[in-house]
Amino acid sequence: MSQREQFRTRLGFILTTAGSAIGLGAIWKFPYVAGQNGGGAFFFIFIFFTFVLALPLMMAEFAIGRTAGADAVTSFKKIAPGTKWYGIGILGMVTTFILLSFYSVIGGWIITYLGKIFTGELIGLQSEEYALLFQKTIENPWLSLSLQFIFILMTIIVVGHGIQNGIERASKIMMPALAILFLILVIRSVTLDGAVKGMAFLFQPDFSKLTSKAVLDAMGQSFFTLSIGVSVMITYSSYLPKTTNLPRSALSVVSMNLLVIILSGLSIFPAVFSFGLDPDAGPVLLFNVLPTIFSQLPFGMFFFAAFLIVFFFAALTSAFSMLEIIVSVLSKGHLDKRKKYAWMIGIAIFIFGIPSALSYGVLSDVTVFGKSFFDLADYAVSNVLMPLGSLLIAIFVSWKMEKSLLFDELKRGSKLKRGAFQAWYYILRYVAPVLIVIVMLDVLGVWRR
Ligand code: PFF
Repeated sequence: MSQREQFRTRLGFILTTAGSAIGLGAIWKFPYVAGQNGGGAFFFIFIFFTFVLALPLMMAEFAIGRTAGADAVTSFKKIAPGTKWYGIGILGMVTTFILLSFYSVIGGWIITYLGKIFTGELIGLQSEEYALLFQKTIENPWLSLSLQFIFILMTIIVVGHGIQNGIERASKIMMPALAILFLILVIRSVTLDGAVKGMAFLFQPDFSKLTSKAVLDAMGQSFFTLSIGVSVMITYSSYLPKTTNLPRSALSVVSMNLLVIILSGLSIFPAVFSFGLDPDAGPVLLFNVLPTIFSQLPFGMFFFAAFLIVFFFAALTSAFSMLEIIVSVLSKGHLDKRKKYAWMIGIAIFIFGIPSALSYGVLSDVTVFGKSFFDLADYAVSNVLMPLGSLLIAIFVSWKMEKSLLFDELKRGSKLKRGAFQAWYYILRYVAPVLIVIVMLDVLGVWRR
């Protein structure tokens, strides 16, 4: 969205917000974080956070955005003039800056595999050989950096031009395509020998093994995957007409995203167990498993290419939203300044992301706080900055904004009942702040023995 234009349809808004939400978080991050945290119990806690925190917070961001009708920083200045609450918008800009710096590394990995399909390198390997080949590829510093750059470049060009309309149209094809390709993948995966073990891993919770870190990861994942706490949803909803049903829109986005997460889990874990791979492989998990599943399908490489293209699209539409919120604040709606800021910020993000891109190669031995640069950036964003932004937004909405105005805002275009509104309001006012603070104490090691 370039100037203060508006979404023409509710579907357009939902597709754009779902475009921000559905991305690497659901497809790449969920399986590996669930894998690291023992599966089932993590999954259930994640669902809990999705509905108790992320969904109400998404509605809160929608309410702020539509009330103010401005970018991430100006929105706070309009609603609470003369106060420092606009710092939430700045926090969101810093968070998405760091986020895109490592997100783009994975974007580059997707291009890597696309290239490999066309060179025929992926045909006829065993599952460990795929993992080795992938490891060798991402170790290459120049390749990683150039592909990361290409991903950022594409983001810069789209955000700089503000050609979101085209994206909206493309989403109408890409999102259903994503679901269909995933379904094919799921069918193959759950019919593999030993698939049941993978399903049990994901759906049979063993709460006795749950750690405080798993709970923090689950909360972080619920914010990450729905783009919550960084004012992206404020920015997008600022372009909404007053007639759009906000609660229903939020519910649609959450459900679509959850569907992708479940499809992703159902395609990855049965295969992981069937091929005897390690669910705890970390960020490379998806990339190690996918080629093996596809290689066991008729026309596998064709489907794999199609899947990667849709996956890449999903990652890009999320990346747009990260750069968009920074550029929309800086350019203040001036179309002529968008391009300049998109380039400046995009290049800065690339430079900042270089250590993350090299974390799987030349810098693999360098650690800060016991983590590689990549893992540190990911941890800071998912487990510290996004929960912090969410905490502040919950407090801002429920303690600083007028309750009756909030009710009016959410009621416009919807049939919201008073009781449901009250529940939402008190969740934000009491439950969310307390819960987020308690879970976040794990960052300081309070819960670890
Ligand atoms: N929700 C995106 C994903 O799951 O891939 C990640 C994301 C996009 C987070 C935009 C935050 C954001 F502002």
